[in-house]
Amino acid sequence: MAKTRVKTAYICQNCGYSSPKWMGRCPNCGEWNTMVETVMEREERPRPSVTPTSEPQRLPQISAEGFERIPVPIGELSRVLGGGIVPGSVVLIGGDPGIGKSTLLLQLSSLLASPDGAVLYISGEESLQQIKMRADRLGIANQALYILSEINLDQIINHIERLNPRMVVVDSIQSVYSEELMSAAGSVGQVKECASTLLRLAKATGIPIFLVGHVTKAGAIAGPKVLEHIVDTVLYLEGDRFHAYRLLRSVKNRFGSTNEVGVFEMGDRGLAEVANPSEAFLAERLPNASGSAIAVTMEGTRPLLVEIQALASTTSFGYPRRTANGVDFNRLLLLVAVLSKRVGLRLSDQDIFVNVVGGLKVNEPAVDLAIAVAIASSYRNVPVAADMAIVGEIGLSGELRAVSQLERRLSEAAKLGFRRCLVPKSLRRRGKVPEGIEIVGARSVGEALEAALLS
Ligand SMILES: Nc1ncnc2c1ncn2[C@@H]1O[C@H](COP(=O)(O)OP(=O)(O)O)[C@@H](O)[C@H]1O
Ligand SMILES: [Mg+2]
Ligand SMILES: [Zn+2]
Repeated sequence: MAKTRVKTAYICQNCGYSSPKWMGRCPNCGEWNTMVETVMEREERPRPSVTPTSEPQRLPQISAEGFERIPVPIGELSRVLGGGIVPGSVVLIGGDPGIGKSTLLLQLSSLLASPDGAVLYISGEESLQQIKMRADRLGIANQALYILSEINLDQIINHIERLNPRMVVVDSIQSVYSEELMSAAGSVGQVKECASTLLRLAKATGIPIFLVGHVTKAGAIAGPKVLEHIVDTVLYLEGDRFHAYRLLRSVKNRFGSTNEVGVFEMGDRGLAEVANPSEAFLAERLPNASGSAIAVTMEGTRPLLVEIQALASTTSFGYPRRTANGVDFNRLLLLVAVLSKRVGLRLSDQDIFVNVVGGLKVNEPAVDLAIAVAIASSYRNVPVAADMAIVGEIGLSGELRAVSQLERRLSEAAKLGFRRCLVPKSLRRRGKVPEGIEIVGARSVGEALEAALLS
């Protein structure tokens, strides 16, 4: 397909300054590396006659038909999407390289491809043979699943229009380029242009498109962040490469709630759903070991029990180390300061390591108390009561603050067999206490340590 080049310009992403050629620094606002190549004028393709949807419609006359979601047979993914795939939607799945994005989407593609509707999986990163090898390993051999190795956007669009599949995967958006731009594949301009072209295609055809976006260190390659406002839904697959667990989080969803999270486990046969994540995260726990506390955290609307481990050991250098894995480093410093100042633990000559088991990240203040209890438990070399789960935010005076959704947290702890839960004692009465679990209230970190640590 011969094509006349369109008119492009470099636009400063900071102030909007426009220049016909690339510049390292914006002459208007002085920012570096903000000039992004953008299509200014597009040759209008002859349009088909006006479609009914481009006419203003009276609200009651708009039919929601054709908006039925495509069911997704992976429950954890379906929930994060808001209950299936909306036709014509564009979903971005971001994540670090090697985390499992291609694996998850190949699995999904195979589950959705059927004689009624093909699925087109386009890869710009791997050869057909590599994809075939992955498919063999995952036990995927679906006649209706088509694989295309292509990075040219026009070719990709041609193939989508010709095959008219039920769903499309583009792996990854950073590998695709449009001939209309001079800049290299993966640059901010290319990534935006390709994503918005695919979005228009999805809306026009009703074919849902999944885009893979690698998270990248700041640099020449544009990460998923630049696409977040273009696409309908943004999911991130996280975890770390050394642990099997993967969390799929929704950070933007035009068709459902955000804050949902799906839990998977990476194995030989790909990503498997984890039906009972709390149980999985606690599976290897040693009861009665010092330095371990069970926190009840919320991931969206779902409670999760996680083990927080701490190790305090006398420093061999002058300057004590603090290491946080899965919890916020500054939060750790704050909790250590509260334990020193308000409880009187002498932590200034201690190296302190904190780790969330399973490679999980927890960012909620409600895990403060479990972190503090784990540190104190390790420092005093006294275990935490094995039947106790812990929730509570810690304030600077060492006071405990109430947490949201306490009832759900308590139910989950009860379900996993914890008989007691340490919670902030609040003056206002809270909701019902679920059956099978006893509440132990504490007002301060000091009181909490007395209740939680066996002596
Ligand atoms: N032969 C294998 N056996 C088991 N797991 C594998 C094998 N090869 C790759 N994996 C897993 O798949 C992951 C790669 O996933 P992939 O879907 O390619 O990631 P992404 O697309 O996010 O870069 C690896 O990190 C590894 O965990
Ligand atoms: Mg990949
Ligand atoms: Zn500028």
